[in-house]
Amino acid sequence: MTNHTALREKILSLKKERDAIILAHNYQVATVQDIADLVGDSLELARAAESRECSAIVFCGVDFMAETAAILSPNKTVLLPAQDACCPMAEMVTADELVVLKSRYPDAAVVAYVNTMAEVKAVSDICCTSANAVKVVESLPNSQVIFVPDQNLASYVARYSKKEILPWEGYCIVHDRFTPEDVSRQKALHPDAEVLVHPECRPEVIDCADHVFSTSGIIRHACRSQAEEFIIGTEIGILHRIAKLCPEKHCFPLSPTAVCENMKKTSLEKVLVALERMEPRITVPSEIAKPARLAIERMLKIP
Ligand code: 13P
Ligand code: SF4
Repeated sequence: MTNHTALREKILSLKKERDAIILAHNYQVATVQDIADLVGDSLELARAAESRECSAIVFCGVDFMAETAAILSPNKTVLLPAQDACCPMAEMVTADELVVLKSRYPDAAVVAYVNTMAEVKAVSDICCTSANAVKVVESLPNSQVIFVPDQNLASYVARYSKKEILPWEGYCIVHDRFTPEDVSRQKALHPDAEVLVHPECRPEVIDCADHVFSTSGIIRHACRSQAEEFIIGTEIGILHRIAKLCPEKHCFPLSPTAVCENMKKTSLEKVLVALERMEPRITVPSEIAKPARLAIERMLKIP
């Protein structure tokens, strides 16, 4: 038996013993995706964390995702195998800063991208993900909306909404680096390929795209589309999932350096240690979890 096979078997047996499930984001390394019970985007993983029956969740992603799972499932043990896996964008806004902004716009609703820490969700009206941001904003009665922290996602939403969107100036350090020149370079090499990008990209990159989707939206579209070739404008971990689900399609990264280092911190070894020790455990104090949960649940109620 190879080391890799032995590691997988240990994880699967311990997972059963602990009554745990493994949730993995679409950007995780291939070996971690391949052992997960569900691989998905932020919205799918949040829904699964809430609805799946189990005693523990091993969250292979970054801290805000594990926090969201812990908020939705206070009775489940939520483990984050890579304790230092964070989202730099989520750290670009604090609850104190948001409270100051809210006081300047008392009539505005506050939409927090799920890529925020629990304290920020707790002072927001509703959360959104890249899969439902437009729907969430349109569901609100307010004509003014404070949108934190991603200015690119805010600008994408503003294309489809008549509301006044007040963006925070945060951004994803991976997606914000894509340029229209990256698109031209890849289009010159693959002229028949459809360009699929994530809404965390800059507006000028969105302008060059054929379609804009969440990570799972990109995967679904690549599998269902008549096109055979795709240029993929998001983190490169997604290519493994597309290759697995529709191996006949050819996908080219918009940039091969689009790597979220934090998403790559989780390994099978760390998953095993987390299951053995039942830590690092993610918990959220109830005074923060309660209001944050309201904001997440409002989002989850939107079909
Ligand atoms: P998705 O919700 O589309 O999976 O995006 C999460 C994320 O962190 C994108 O950078
Ligand atoms: Fe955060 Fe960007 Fe990494 Fe997504 S890709 S987790 S937004 S840093």
